[in-house]
Amino acid sequence: MRIEDPKIVAVLPDLHVQLFRDASLAELTSLAIGGSTDLLRIRKHETIPGVMNLLDEHGLPHRFLGGGSNLLVGDGELPWVVLQLESPDPDVVLEGNFARVDAAADLGRTVTYCAKHDLGGMEGLIGVPGTVGGALRMNAGAYGMQIGSYVREVKLYRAATRRIEILSGEQISFEYRHTSFAPDDMMLAVKLELPSKPFKEILQGIRICNEKRRSSQPLGQKSAGCIFKNPPGASAGRMIDDLGLKGLSIGDARVSDRHANFFVNAGKAGARDMLALISSVRERVQSAFDLELELEVVIWNG
Ligand code: EPU
Repeated sequence: MRIEDPKIVAVLPDLHVQLFRDASLAELTSLAIGGSTDLLRIRKHETIPGVMNLLDEHGLPHRFLGGGSNLLVGDGELPWVVLQLESPDPDVVLEGNFARVDAAADLGRTVTYCAKHDLGGMEGLIGVPGTVGGALRMNAGAYGMQIGSYVREVKLYRAATRRIEILSGEQISFEYRHTSFAPDDMMLAVKLELPSKPFKEILQGIRICNEKRRSSQPLGQKSAGCIFKNPPGASAGRMIDDLGLKGLSIGDARVSDRHANFFVNAGKAGARDMLALISSVRERVQSAFDLELELEVVIWNG
C-alpha cells in the first residue's frame, strides 16, 4: 500500500517517523518471503498515538513488524502499511537485577549483554532470532525456559485505549507460545528481573544451548523457526518426521531435512508455495494422527 496523501507525508518528520517507500518484506523477514508496501519507522514511542490517529483518520490499515523472524508474509502489493520501531541507543539499561529493554532490541544481543553483567536466566533464548518485543508477544521459549517468567513490567501502545500504558507482569498471562496481549497491542519496552549468575556459568549454559540448537535445527537456512506449535505432550517435528515428510517440497518451500517442524525457503519460494506446503503437511498429520496442528508462525496474508 502506498501512502499517497502529501498531507500525511508532510507531517511524518514532526512525528519522528521515517518513510521508506516500497519496502520489501522479503528483505525484512527471516523466511525471505513477502511482497512490498510503504514502511514507517518510528523513532519515539511518545509519537505513536499521533501516528495511529493519522493513519486512522486517513483510513490506512497497518501492521506492526518486529524482527520478522516468526512471520510469513503474503506475496505482491500488500494491503497495509507496516510500522516498525527503531532501536534507541542504548536499548538495554541495567539497574541491579532489573533490565529495561526496548522492544526493538535484538534478543540475542540482549541475552549476551545481560550475561556479561552477570545476569542470567535467558540462556535458552540464545540463537532465537528476532527482537525482544517479538519474543515478549509470543512468549518465546526454549530448553525449559520462557521469557514471560522474567517479565515484571511491559510498556505498550494499546489500540483499544489509543494510549501508551504500563502493565505489571501479573496483569499479563504468559502461556506456551501465547500471551494475553491483544493482536493490535504494540510492545514498546519491557522490564525484566533476572537472576544473578557469574558470567562464566551463564556462558557455559549458552554454549550448551547453542550446541543443541546447531545439532538439531537448520540454522543457516531461511526459516521462521518452528511452523507448528507442539500439541500437548507431543512434538510436531517428530510427527512430521515419522510420516517421512522431511524434504517434501512445493516449489522452493521445503520441509527441512534437519528438523521437520522447520520449513525452509530453499531458493525463491513465494508465500503461495509455503502456504501450500503448510496445508499439505497439516492435512497429512490430520489424517495420520487425527490431530489438527496449530500454527506457531504468524501469517500476514491479506
Ligand atoms: N524430532 C524428530 N524429528 C525431527 C524433529 C524432532 O524425531 O525432525 C524429535 C527429537 O529428536 C526430540 C523431539 O522430537 O526427541 C523434540 O524435538 P526438539 O528437542 O527439537 O524440540 P521441538 O519440540 O521440536 C521445541 C520448540 C523449539 C525450541 C526447541 C528447544 C516448539 C514448537 N518448538 O522444539 O522452538 O527451540 O523445543 O527447546 O515449541 C520455535 O519456537 O520456533 C522453536 C524452534
